[in-house]
Amino acid sequence: MARLIYILNGPNLNLLGKRQPEIYGHETLADVERDCAALAGELGVEIRFLQSNHEGRLIDWIHEAREDAVGIVINPAAFTHTSVAILDALKTFDGPVIEVHISNVHQRESFRHHSYVSLRADGVIAGCGTEGYRLGLRRVASLTAAG
Ligand code: DQA
Repeated sequence: MARLIYILNGPNLNLLGKRQPEIYGHETLADVERDCAALAGELGVEIRFLQSNHEGRLIDWIHEAREDAVGIVINPAAFTHTSVAILDALKTFDGPVIEVHISNVHQRESFRHHSYVSLRADGVIAGCGTEGYRLGLRRVASLTAAG
């Protein structure tokens, strides 16, 4: 059975493509999912691509990932900067976790410079646009490859 990788998206990312396109670009989240699914096929992994505006939902998915996923790619969006609960949930997950931000958060407001999630993430990708998701997926796939 192919390795399953969760790709989790936090609040407001459902509006990707419409929301501040000067910062986040014109691609929609459906475009990102399609590109990740194509790459997953090449890498021989499966993905579960999910988005929620609710912190608890994201936490429930992280708990679910404990049961059936080998790794997680997560763009926690604004919860990056606020959520000890998402950090704690990720700490219960054993596989690799890659944190993705479409924008370069370090070039932006100072409140975006701190990430709770980075305390757990094995790697962080920021400022690579939506390509960051595919970079994150590649990284989780290579970290979980057999041999
Ligand atoms: C984001 C950066 C966060 O600071 C912001 O709250 C987001 C998106 C990004 O992908 O660049 O919603 O995670």
